[in-house]
Amino acid sequence: GAPVRADISKLEAGQRMTVEWRGRPVWVINRTEEMIERTREFDASRLADPDSEELHQPTYVSGPLRSVRPEIGVLIGICTHLGCSPLYRPEPDAVDIENWPGGFFCPCHGSYFDLAGRVFTNVPAPTNLVVPPYRFEGDDIIVGE
Ligand code: FES
Repeated sequence: GAPVRADISKLEAGQRMTVEWRGRPVWVINRTEEMIERTREFDASRLADPDSEELHQPTYVSGPLRSVRPEIGVLIGICTHLGCSPLYRPEPDAVDIENWPGGFFCPCHGSYFDLAGRVFTNVPAPTNLVVPPYRFEGDDIIVGE
């Protein structure tokens, strides 16, 4: 089908938008410097697959942020457990668990993901959130492939 596009020119720092790409909700998050630091510095032992070795993402994204540009996160907004829609909880005090780095909380059965969609250990969701294939067209347009 035709490529799908998201215009992120109005996406403010710290905010998330949801776009529909081929019937799937895709989140685009504009991570602040502070959110990036919290994600990079988070204790990897609390994440099930911190280096994304299971590769639920394109091969051209890597590292803790799992993104082409450090500030812009692109994730399929579907919990990898049973498909609920996790809630965006970016603030460090938004979830009542120790040293919450900001991220997503799935209320259906209690799964946690960081701001790069990396899943915590000991939660029902088995894998990181999926990063779909995408590229940038200039600064403000993301094209889903
Ligand atoms: Fe998200 Fe079960 S669907 S924890």
